[in-house]
Amino acid sequence: MRLEGKVAIVTASAGAGIGQGTLQALAKEGASVVVTDTHERRTGEVAEALKSEGHKAIGVVCDVTSREQVENMVKKALDEFGRIDILVNNAGTNRMNPIHEMSDEDWDLVIDTNLKGTFYCIRAVLPAMIEQNHGRIVNISSIAGWSGSNQGEAPYCAAKAGIMAFTRCVALETAKYDITVNAIAPGFVPNPFLLKIYPQEALEAIERMIPKGRGGTPQEIANAILFLVSEEGSYITGETIAVSGGWR
Ligand SMILES: NC(=O)c1ccc[n+]([C@@H]2O[C@H](COP(=O)([O-])OP(=O)(O)OC[C@H]3O[C@@H](n4cnc5c(N)ncnc54)[C@H](O)[C@@H]3O)[C@@H](O)[C@H]2O)c1
Repeated sequence: MRLEGKVAIVTASAGAGIGQGTLQALAKEGASVVVTDTHERRTGEVAEALKSEGHKAIGVVCDVTSREQVENMVKKALDEFGRIDILVNNAGTNRMNPIHEMSDEDWDLVIDTNLKGTFYCIRAVLPAMIEQNHGRIVNISSIAGWSGSNQGEAPYCAAKAGIMAFTRCVALETAKYDITVNAIAPGFVPNPFLLKIYPQEALEAIERMIPKGRGGTPQEIANAILFLVSEEGSYITGETIAVSGGWR
């Protein structure tokens, strides 16, 4: 129960991947949690399931690309729990097209979901964290922010690299308030949704590139996040840490 008394928001946490895995891990360590996602039914179901297991949880529908929805979500979290100790910016999306065929809409959607959404959520929680003189923020980037890609995912790579630089800026600005801000760069973390949309051969090709020979689990990503947001991570800030089985 390393997070007893703490309040955590995890964006995009009603899916099948890293977001919900992290939310469950934080709740198991005693944090009160805010389940927030664009998907209304799943948001409600995940919050109810946590409550039925004895955890303190609320569900708030929120699209991180909407400033209004983000501000409303943070207000609801503060109204319910009175403080915000932990923010995990997990929301991300990808659109795959060669750069010369990339539409403005796809570019904006990917940059807004990954990078601007991270900015909106951080801007919205910082007043409470500064007032408390305490906060822990973890942004989910990707090793694609370092490696780039020839698979038509330039805005995704640019957004994830942007998250790394933004992480460092927020960390430097807020260090004096005992707020730490770090990013995690996962490699490949399969989940039932990804397994449905990617052909088996593509998944096997990815696994061959990973030195450990397999994708990671949401729990393995959550373990690194837990370390960063708990007392053990108190002196680490501004960093991007790969959790990728050695893949870059
Ligand atoms: N899965 C991987 O292999 C992998 C690898 C590297 C980085 N990442 C990053 O990890 C994060 C989590 O990815 P995941 O694949 O584990 O899925 P996930 O289950 O954590 O997230 C999917 C959820 O995101 C929600 N969502 C989508 N757009 C949203 C928005 N605008 N606002 C709020 N919620 C939104 C969806 O409704 C869905 O429930 C993403 O940022 C992704 O880019 C994933």
